[in-house]
Amino acid sequence: MKFIILTLFPESFDFLKSYGVIGKAIQNNLIELEVVNIRDYSKNKHKKVDDEIYGGGAGMLMTCQPIYDCLQDVNKNKSKVIFMSPQGKVLTQKKCIELSQEKEIVLLCGHYEGVDSRIINHYCDEEISIGDYVMTGGELASMVLIDCVSRMIDDVLGNNESYMTDSHYNLLLQEDSYTRPRIFNGYEVPDVLLSGNHKDIENWREKSRIENTKRKRKDIYKKYLEEKNQGGS
Ligand SMILES: C[S@@+](CC[C@H](N)C(=O)[O-])C[C@H]1O[C@@H](n2cnc3c(N)ncnc32)[C@H](O)[C@@H]1O
Repeated sequence: MKFIILTLFPESFDFLKSYGVIGKAIQNNLIELEVVNIRDYSKNKHKKVDDEIYGGGAGMLMTCQPIYDCLQDVNKNKSKVIFMSPQGKVLTQKKCIELSQEKEIVLLCGHYEGVDSRIINHYCDEEISIGDYVMTGGELASMVLIDCVSRMIDDVLGNNESYMTDSHYNLLLQEDSYTRPRIFNGYEVPDVLLSGNHKDIENWREKSRIENTKRKRKDIYKKYLEEKNQGGS
């Protein structure tokens, strides 16, 4: 899968390229990152990419021309264009699964007060937010999306890891989990996890998933109960 990122700060993606699971996935050609500097497309003699906002107001807005020309140049395959935006639908695990089916995605990162609305309304397919708060730019938001989507792609996670048992994959949060030592500062690992009885362990885990969700995320627990009552999971 390929991500084409349109940004004013290409170097911010160096982090993603060189570290951890995603860095390795890029090195192993499981995912590809093409980071494009919007400024390179500016026709302004000073390479300006922003301007004052019509009607007044604080701050500057990214102008249409460099972004439009950049999109025309890089989005040859007419792939889905996503504008990272605090006004978009908040990214969910379900959305990440959906996006992981795409061959290529174009991510537009805004800056300053954002992007001229004509670009968003006419040249972007959707807006995605990473939460109901405002950041200074779309770069971190893009990296969050790339990370979450990439780990759903075959072979990105190692053999012993699976995104399917993670929180949110099947709505519920993950169960409590423990590793050595068996007793830490007097706190013991539940006996059932050492019993070797797979059925009992799975029952315990299911109960723990439900309890965790009920205790930590009442909103998700409510959805879970609604789905259950409708004959879902
Ligand atoms: C300072 S923000 C602009 C916010 C804009 N004035 C508004 O109120 O909707 C600059 C850029 O950061 C990115 N951004 C900020 N918060 C975000 C969020 N929660 N999710 C995704 N992108 C975000 C967007 O690309 C945005 O254009």
